[in-house]
Amino acid sequence: MTMIACIANQKGGTSKTSTTLALGAACAERGQRVLLVDLDPQASLTAAAGAPLLGRPTVYTALSHYLAHDEAPDLAAGGMLHPVSAGLTLLPSSIDLAAAEMELVTAVRREYILSEVLAPALDDYDLVLIDCPPSLGLLVVNALTAAREVIVPVVPEYLAAHGLQLLLGSIGRIRKNKLNPRLQIAGIIFTMVDNRTTHGRAVAEEIRGSIGRQAPILGEVKRSIKVAEAAAAGVPITAYAARSDSALAYGQIADGLLARWGLRPPPPAPVASGVAGAADADALAAATAAATAGAVAHG
Ligand SMILES: Nc1ncnc2c1ncn2[C@@H]1O[C@H](COP(=O)(O)OP(=O)(O)OP(=O)(O)O)[C@@H](O)[C@H]1O
Ligand SMILES: [Mg+2]
Repeated sequence: MTMIACIANQKGGTSKTSTTLALGAACAERGQRVLLVDLDPQASLTAAAGAPLLGRPTVYTALSHYLAHDEAPDLAAGGMLHPVSAGLTLLPSSIDLAAAEMELVTAVRREYILSEVLAPALDDYDLVLIDCPPSLGLLVVNALTAAREVIVPVVPEYLAAHGLQLLLGSIGRIRKNKLNPRLQIAGIIFTMVDNRTTHGRAVAEEIRGSIGRQAPILGEVKRSIKVAEAAAAGVPITAYAARSDSALAYGQIADGLLARWGLRPPPPAPVASGVAGAADADALAAATAAATAGAVAHG
């Protein structure tokens, strides 16, 4: 069965897009057939993957087709898929997608449109990774409803724990409202980590200590100019600077996730603080509340 995971955090600039592309590329390098879905009207993933930004069918075309015909389009035949590299395909975005949020509001089963659009294509992929915009709006609800797991990139800095609590609250509501009762949190990735600041270390420790048991910490990626350069070059970090710390960190995280998802045997070396176990969003929300208090006290 195809694993669908979304990369979400309503806070802007937490490395969601960079993480989606890097993990997608790392999983493709490990033999998986990966579809990346750019669900952000900013189209950063589309740009970072080197796909054209204008004049091509996109995920908006696909969603609009479903809304007009009550039927999923053929993504490949409709020219909506962009090959990125061996095993890695992108369903791109464009600024038009900003309109979709409004158009979805009046749709029947409006939270399930993305899920319906992706369903016929799933046989062609082992893994689908959805890059979410920095919000908790209807597009993100569609991603959380389509996905089986959520990956949360967190920059360990002031109010990170508070932002995490908001997201976990949304995930809890999606499960309670039965939109997607089986939704799980794959784990947290610390991103843009700068171990030179005591504050960053303190926030990471708070989050690790309070929720690390329920939401696995999948790993950490240090702040590095190489990640930004790779995005500007339109190439995944794993190809742009394959031996860099960032590429190696994403490779390790990909190994852990593929083992968690049963897409590959477990890696020989342990990854960060472990990847096993399903997280309970409600317990996590309570735990992050404690972390928020701690982080604020540290601030
Ligand atoms: N590990 C890193 N080191 C240095 N720069 C990074 C790193 N990860 C991401 N960046 C840079 O930080 C900026 C934001 O990253 P990215 O676009 O991946 O975040 P995002 O969470 O997707 O943002 P948004 O919320 O706007 O969608 C980009 O310019 C990116 O190149
Ligand atoms: Mg982004």
